[in-house]
Amino acid sequence: MKIKLENVSMRFGDMYAVRDVSLSIAKGEYLTVLGPSGCGKTTLIKVISGIWRPTEGRVIVDGDDVTDIPLEDRDTGYVFQNIALFPNMTIEDNVGYSPRVRDLPQEEVDRISRDYLELVRMFDRAGMFPSELSGGEQQKVAIARALASGSKMLMLDEPLSALDARVRVELRYEIRRLVKKLGITVLHVTHDQEEAMSVSDRIILMRAGGIKEVGTPMDIYRNPKSIFAAYFIGETNLLECTVVGKTKTGRTMVRLRGGRVVRAAKSNYDTGDPTVISVRPENVYTAKDGIKAEIIGVVFMGTYWKIRTIAETSDYIDYNVSSNDEVPDVGDEVYLVFNKRATKVFARPEEGLEEAIKLE
Ligand SMILES: Nc1ncnc2c1ncn2[C@@H]1O[C@H](COP(=O)(O)OP(=O)(O)OP(=O)(O)O)[C@@H](O)[C@H]1O
Ligand SMILES: [Mg+2]
Repeated sequence: MKIKLENVSMRFGDMYAVRDVSLSIAKGEYLTVLGPSGCGKTTLIKVISGIWRPTEGRVIVDGDDVTDIPLEDRDTGYVFQNIALFPNMTIEDNVGYSPRVRDLPQEEVDRISRDYLELVRMFDRAGMFPSELSGGEQQKVAIARALASGSKMLMLDEPLSALDARVRVELRYEIRRLVKKLGITVLHVTHDQEEAMSVSDRIILMRAGGIKEVGTPMDIYRNPKSIFAAYFIGETNLLECTVVGKTKTGRTMVRLRGGRVVRAAKSNYDTGDPTVISVRPENVYTAKDGIKAEIIGVVFMGTYWKIRTIAETSDYIDYNVSSNDEVPDVGDEVYLVFNKRATKVFARPEEGLEEAIKLE
């Protein structure tokens, strides 16, 4: 199933929850909508799935305009932000609900619910009621029920957010494995950037009702086109600076606050341009002649130490130290350098850096 949105907006009163969104979802694609709380993700998925009619724009599925067709008349499986199983039905009956409503013969209904319960590895719970299952198990059943509807399109609104970290990670793999096996197109809403990175073919990054950026997880992580994307996906250090020239190889030379000049990646900015460089903690190292910084925090992360410093530029600069290496102490002085190629240079936002990364 192929989906196209043309200039879709959803307005409540005079507030736009979604504003002028256009996008295409390819057949069989796993697309996630990622963004901070309140940015319009649920609204967007409800409009795409037909739960709500957009106030403006068109929704096209496989070439047909379905803007005015409600969810129940479409071929879409939907899993809600809060688990919504029928409490008075067994697990098997929950999963078999849609085939039964479609009046399939009983053996067929049984076969379908058995198959999908097996797929999510919940067959041994078939006779139980939802209240007898844990949250994670109920969520698996909700997904099995959506799949059993036979739809070629699955809409998942925060399907994992109610679950604990362990189960969440486990289910990420399960869902992706299932839908890829069945060739289903998925639209998955989440505010969890790690979840989006791990399940998606492509990520749509939303902010304040609009699409900020679209790309594969690796694209967006390595080549964010905006400061907001660099900041929201993964961790990064953002340093205000001014371009002072170019090296012979075309790298941008920038002056950080406090006066120190460092080399950053190639860019199209010219001398005098107000800029911001983004450098992820894994691309910051200690070396002689680096930026002077004082360690103000050390956090053990298991495979590495996360180190926070306050630098001579008055910025916080975070970097990582492998667990196998010697870890510095709070109060130590260190000298930091960047992997130039892995830095990103952005125009300094007119509204200010704080405003550019604000979550709402
Ligand atoms: N039925 C409604 N009536 C009025 N305003 C609404 C309605 N539904 C959503 N909104 C508003 O639209 C905006 C977007 O809400 P939405 O639920 O789409 O956000 P979200 O990105 O899904 O957030 P979360 O991550 O918290 O689920 C919010 O400001 C919300 O208050
Ligand atoms: Mg939501």
